[in-house]
Amino acid sequence: VLSEYGISPKYGFLPDVLPLTRLPDPYYNKWESIGANLQSLILSKRLRGVIDRLPVLSTVGLEHDAEWRRAYMLLTFFAHGYIWGGDTPCDRVPPSISVPLLDICQHLEIPPVSTYAASVLWNFKPLFIDEEIDDLDNLATLVTFTGSLDESWFYLVSVAIEARGGPIIPLMLTAVAAARQGDSVTVTRCLQAFAERLDDLGELLRRMHESCDPGFFYRRIRTFLAGSKNMAEAGLPRGVMYDDGSGKSEYVQYSGPSNAQSSLIQFFDIILGVEHRPTGEKPDPSSESEREGRSRAPKHNFIQDMRRYMPGPHARFLNDVGAVANIREFVESRAASDRPLSIAYDACLSMLRAFRDIHIAIVTRYIVLPSRENRARSRSRSPEATRNRVNLATASKNEAHKKVKGTGGTALIPFLKQARDETGEPSIETW
Ligand code: HEM
Ligand code: ALA
Repeated sequence: VLSEYGISPKYGFLPDVLPLTRLPDPYYNKWESIGANLQSLILSKRLRGVIDRLPVLSTVGLEHDAEWRRAYMLLTFFAHGYIWGGDTPCDRVPPSISVPLLDICQHLEIPPVSTYAASVLWNFKPLFIDEEIDDLDNLATLVTFTGSLDESWFYLVSVAIEARGGPIIPLMLTAVAAARQGDSVTVTRCLQAFAERLDDLGELLRRMHESCDPGFFYRRIRTFLAGSKNMAEAGLPRGVMYDDGSGKSEYVQYSGPSNAQSSLIQFFDIILGVEHRPTGEKPDPSSESEREGRSRAPKHNFIQDMRRYMPGPHARFLNDVGAVANIREFVESRAASDRPLSIAYDACLSMLRAFRDIHIAIVTRYIVLPSRENRARSRSRSPEATRNRVNLATASKNEAHKKVKGTGGTALIPFLKQARDETGEPSIETW
């Protein structure tokens, strides 16, 4: 069943077939050579010129899904490089990217922007083929904007988390089946194994600091990960137009890539019965009406909305799992009589909460603090220094006026803290 949703029992949402390192059909050599030189083309500000001269290639040469995924990955990197890789952002993606990209996105059921799938799920290779990909020290990226170790590391931490977390999917589907049969011993055993794995994932997340520098991340990497939604202050008041040459293209707005698009983490929430409300919304005291509301997809729910940025089959999987998830109800119904079960369930919640705590600390260090430094610098800058560094000063001045947002578009900390707090809410122990 898992394979019908493009899920691997071993690697989860990472593809079973390793991502291709190049498209096999020589027809696509032009794309591959841009991909191979992407960083230099961005650095020399020549990417836009190259893309403008690139012919519109057809998708007929794409066969296996791995080829479609590679093509999507390349073209979304080109699109973001094109939009953000100049002195000012460009709000028009030319036909050489738009035409094939829109076609590919229809095939893969994913929007025409960089997503978690483009930068993480389909953008890695093992260094040694006989070693595991859940080992962060055996991974390399295929494409980056900056060519830096920091950017590679930023993506690869997530690859390792996806790979290490993959086996939790079949494990917890076993638990769902066991709960249906009233087999509490199996459910307890699965929950215990899940909690241990979650602890591992937290350890992997902590390793972000090892090789990704916060200042570099904030100033250089994030620029390219920005979306086109609510980006007026950054220079895209209308969003972006995917020009297909017809003269009828319209402006559209999309969120930038965010790990909130990780199907794995959303799977954890669904399977444990953790619910996320729209930011700022408090829990409903009558839990009945709240549970009804869950299936109706509440408005402006960012986490829910991020499913539209997942590959179609992965999003469908989450919806289908949502319809059968029964662990929380099972644990609740036995809370009084089955302590080992409640303890195992609570261990999962507290591990997931701990994971979110580690993540909040990362966001503080990688976004909140650098943005404050930027603001402080722009305030203290003397007129003379400003003259010498016009561009930077202008950038910082803009920075001082704008509220920092995540690349996905959230208000960062309030959103993340709410998601963390909601993880704790269903705790059985507190009843
Ligand atoms: C959401 C930043 C790494 C998992 C977010 C958000 C930000 C953020 C700002 C809010 C959504 C948005 O507006 O974009 C960062 C930074 C990272 C990082 C700066 C590293 C430097 C990771 C990693 C993971 C992860 C490695 C795990 C694979 C999540 C999840 C969400 C999220 C699951 C959705 C909120 C939730 O479920 O609690 N991240 N992130 N992040 N991030 Fe990260
Ligand atoms: N979502 C992450 C950010 O906002 C990548 O920087």
